[in-house]
Amino acid sequence: MGSLEEQIAHSAPGLSHVVRVGLGERSYEIHIGEGLIDRLGEEARPLLGKAPAAVVTAEPLAISLGERALAGLRAADVEARMFAVPDGESAKTLETVSRILDFLVEHRLPRQSVLFAVGGGVIGDMVGFAAAIYLRGIDYVQVPTTLLAMVDSSVGGKTAVNHSKGKNLIGAFHQPRLVAADLTALASLPRREYRAGLAEIIKHGVIRDAELFETLEERIEPLAAREARLLGPIIRRNCEIKAAVVESDEREAGPRAILNFGHTIGHAVESLASGSGMLHGEAISIGMVGAGRIAVAMSLWAPQECERLRALLERAGLPTRMPPLATEAVLARMGHDKKIVGRTLRFVLPEAIGRVVLRDDVPADLLANAIEELKG
Ligand SMILES: NC(=O)c1ccc[n+]([C@@H]2O[C@H](COP(=O)([O-])OP(=O)(O)OC[C@H]3O[C@@H](n4cnc5c(N)ncnc54)[C@H](O)[C@@H]3O)[C@@H](O)[C@H]2O)c1
Ligand SMILES: [Zn+2]
Repeated sequence: MGSLEEQIAHSAPGLSHVVRVGLGERSYEIHIGEGLIDRLGEEARPLLGKAPAAVVTAEPLAISLGERALAGLRAADVEARMFAVPDGESAKTLETVSRILDFLVEHRLPRQSVLFAVGGGVIGDMVGFAAAIYLRGIDYVQVPTTLLAMVDSSVGGKTAVNHSKGKNLIGAFHQPRLVAADLTALASLPRREYRAGLAEIIKHGVIRDAELFETLEERIEPLAAREARLLGPIIRRNCEIKAAVVESDEREAGPRAILNFGHTIGHAVESLASGSGMLHGEAISIGMVGAGRIAVAMSLWAPQECERLRALLERAGLPTRMPPLATEAVLARMGHDKKIVGRTLRFVLPEAIGRVVLRDDVPADLLANAIEELKG
């Protein structure tokens, strides 16, 4: 326990962390440590009966992380098979979920089977959705292998696929039974993907935790370089923040929406620019600057704090300017975002580092200005 800096000071390689997500009978643990994939069967032992398990992963990860997960299950005498689906956001579709379901049906996996989602947020979201609807719902375990998935998408039970009209429009709430984040997986993650995960970490600082934000300001370069003793404590703190927000509002009736800071503009930019290969975390970085500027323009937030946010994102190697997209197109795309309440757009706006408010009264001209400014 203690402050984040104390935890970093006492951090040692091989140390494991456990964070509990308290949701009554849907409660579960997040395990963070080294080598968890290789002992996955042991980690998940309490969930596993005699039924076979299935590992679902992305094609490029199958021979590395997928095989390690299979071996980790078989070492604990769990009968397990693997299914690999095409990689990336463009494959986050109902069609891919349908293929996962075909695999489960073909192999007659019973209701007691457990699915293991080994991969980034795309795999986690799709496998979670498949688990939510196969036989009206079976258990699944998140085995996040990207930084973004470890600190954000694997926790909280939101599962989804994309629709051509917008991101994550089709999905369900279905909590995992366990999250096993193996820090050794991060070693092979491409640098750009790793940095995209830093965006959600910075987001958590802004919405809930000034101490985290200050530690990031202090240590963003070594964190970007994946310094081992920082990873455990930082990922743990992020899981604690996400868990606390989810516990307060599991199905996003209200307060959980603060996790969408940067996502109202970010999702629109992401879906318009994904053809050019923009990553989720990169789009969210741009969206956070946009939301920050709106907060400043509405006199909710001090301009110097917005500048601190922009400077930290840039030091993390993240973009803070939009690619050349028409402002009209971004506004139109936001209209399809499902976070609209009634016909108004909802924004998460900072009042201070560590505190945000939800507002659905952002004037249209001010929003258009903020998007225009993001191009500059
Ligand atoms: N459910 C939620 O609450 C939630 C929250 C945030 C984001 N998301 C979703 O998460 C998705 C983004 O997730 P992401 O950033 O993890 O992207 P991703 O799942 O596409 O993974 C990024 C890339 O890294 C590869 N990869 C994964 N682990 C690797 C490893 N250890 N070594 C080498 N390569 C590896 C993947 O195969 C992929 O090519 C988006 O679809 C977003 O909507 C969901
Ligand atoms: Zn996000």
